[in-house]
Amino acid sequence: MKDIIDRLPLPVLRKRLLDWYSSRRRVLPWRQSHDPYHVWVSEVMLQQTQVQTVLRYYGRFIERFPTVEALAAVELDEVLSIWQGLGYYQRARWLHAAARKIVLDYGGRIPRRCEDLLQLPGFGAYTARAVASIAFGEAVGVVDGNVRRVLCRLLALPSPALADLQKTADRLVDPEYPGDFNQAMMELGSLVCTPRHPDCRSCPIRPWCRALSLGRVEDYPSPKSRNRIHGERYWVGLWSRADRWLLGHRERGLLKDMWLFPMWPRTRYPDLPAVMTPLLQDYPDSQAVEVRRLPTVTHVFSHRRWVLDPIWVVWPPEGPIPNLPDEIQKGLKNRVWFPRVQLRTLPIPRAHRKLLSLIFESDSTIQPRLVADDMEHYAADTRSDPTS
Ligand code: ADE
Repeated sequence: MKDIIDRLPLPVLRKRLLDWYSSRRRVLPWRQSHDPYHVWVSEVMLQQTQVQTVLRYYGRFIERFPTVEALAAVELDEVLSIWQGLGYYQRARWLHAAARKIVLDYGGRIPRRCEDLLQLPGFGAYTARAVASIAFGEAVGVVDGNVRRVLCRLLALPSPALADLQKTADRLVDPEYPGDFNQAMMELGSLVCTPRHPDCRSCPIRPWCRALSLGRVEDYPSPKSRNRIHGERYWVGLWSRADRWLLGHRERGLLKDMWLFPMWPRTRYPDLPAVMTPLLQDYPDSQAVEVRRLPTVTHVFSHRRWVLDPIWVVWPPEGPIPNLPDEIQKGLKNRVWFPRVQLRTLPIPRAHRKLLSLIFESDSTIQPRLVADDMEHYAADTRSDPTS
């Protein structure tokens, strides 16, 4: 690979790319600023997330937490609440943890060097290099999915190791304008050198593209074997009483630190009565409890799909509520009855917000009342798990 790069006229190629970037780049809020904090937040948000989506969150986030100190000063819940809907919540947790470390160890100033950034929570090679080059002008190359595709085509590499691509990016990067160069590579990948139907006629570096000269641009990089999406199906208990809703705090795993409705895996609890009947049997006036089935909701995470079958249980305003046995909702602790107004600001993942919107936004979708006696019948068609 070194040979191929040595044969490229690097100064000309860099200039072509930088000129293209200065005339074609999208005007994006985080590009109006060189504040390292803005660069950092935007680069974290842009990982695995489309620009259009980030645009809906970035301004609100910066307005709410305008500085590293402001971010460090709040509780994690508040950060997760602003982040909800953006997905990959671990990014928000790391952002918050890193902000606290920057305040404690660096007096609130984001470290300038890539190797120091790498010591902070959540800073992997991509984030450290992006922040070091864009905010501080360090001559390091970044490799994200878009850059990988551009490099694979430029150098006709079908499936290079990431470490090799990283070295290549470091040799290609413009030493004088590394931040613009890196952003130009990413921009080229998202606007021109797209996975399908790339617009090679508009490409500023087409004279040097080996894949183009072979007439096989779309063959590079070679398609990865698709990751299998793992499906899981759950009953979800939407329990309400007197305009309060029961949620539990997720203590670990996917969606850690968010608030969720109780869930029962359907592989372990194939029929609904097995879950609900003992709870209702203990209830002094089970006739007063309304149980309704709501339409199934699907939510796709990166490698996982949740199929959620919500059961809305309306408990009478007064009287005791049966305890949810702990074993049916492992990892969901500190269950709290939240007033409805508080649900708006609570960090609830999108998968579960969709369930709330079934109730609050489209009452017409709610199916007829289902009382405990009907459950046997209802359960009959739900014994197999279509996702397994
Ligand atoms: N994707 C992630 N960060 C980016 C940036 N700074 N410019 C263009 N695309 C990006």
